[in-house]
Amino acid sequence: MLGSLADWISTTAVGQTVANVLWLIPALQSVHILAMGTLLMSATLISLRLMEVVGKDRSVEWYAERFLSWIWWPLAVLVVTGLLLISGEPARALLNLVFQLKMGLLLLVVILTVTVARVVKTNAGQWTLATSSQAKLFGLLTLILWVAIVVAGRLIAYVE
Ligand code: HEM
Repeated sequence: MLGSLADWISTTAVGQTVANVLWLIPALQSVHILAMGTLLMSATLISLRLMEVVGKDRSVEWYAERFLSWIWWPLAVLVVTGLLLISGEPARALLNLVFQLKMGLLLLVVILTVTVARVVKTNAGQWTLATSSQAKLFGLLTLILWVAIVVAGRLIAYVE
């Protein structure tokens, strides 16, 4: 099924353009990497604050309000550039186990981040998780997941 989806994508105008315009793939990869850097900066700051490694002089709410949008906007750019990258070589990504793992991990980290965002919002002003081991666990898990996603992204090129 994924095979026929890949075949179909490569016949589309977008797929053909990305595959045949020489500078498009490196340009898309560059934007993908810039967005990833921005996302990682914000995600790391929030994770480290949850783990109480940095910024204890400011609340978790402050960190969430300041940096969450700097996760969601770059993620939107990553989704768009990622999909365009796939369109250029659909079989290479869609049929690749590491790519599939990367998408699974991404889903997981998005669910965790939405959960943190919700807890912060509903507990506004009285963020109780902030001092608990649960918050630290959330921070550590999200950090590990983002790093694993980066490693998986890089590995796609090396694993069949
Ligand atoms: C739905 C979202 C995403 C899609 C569809 C996607 C798709 C892709 C694709 C198709 C590639 C090219 C792989 C190759 O041919 O070698 C790639 C590379 C990569 N992606 Fe993503 N990606 C997404 C999100 C992310 C996120 C959230 C991160 C990290 C936070 C990330 C990190 C990377 C890295 C590090 C590379 C390797 C870049 C390089 O070596 O040039 N991606 N991605």
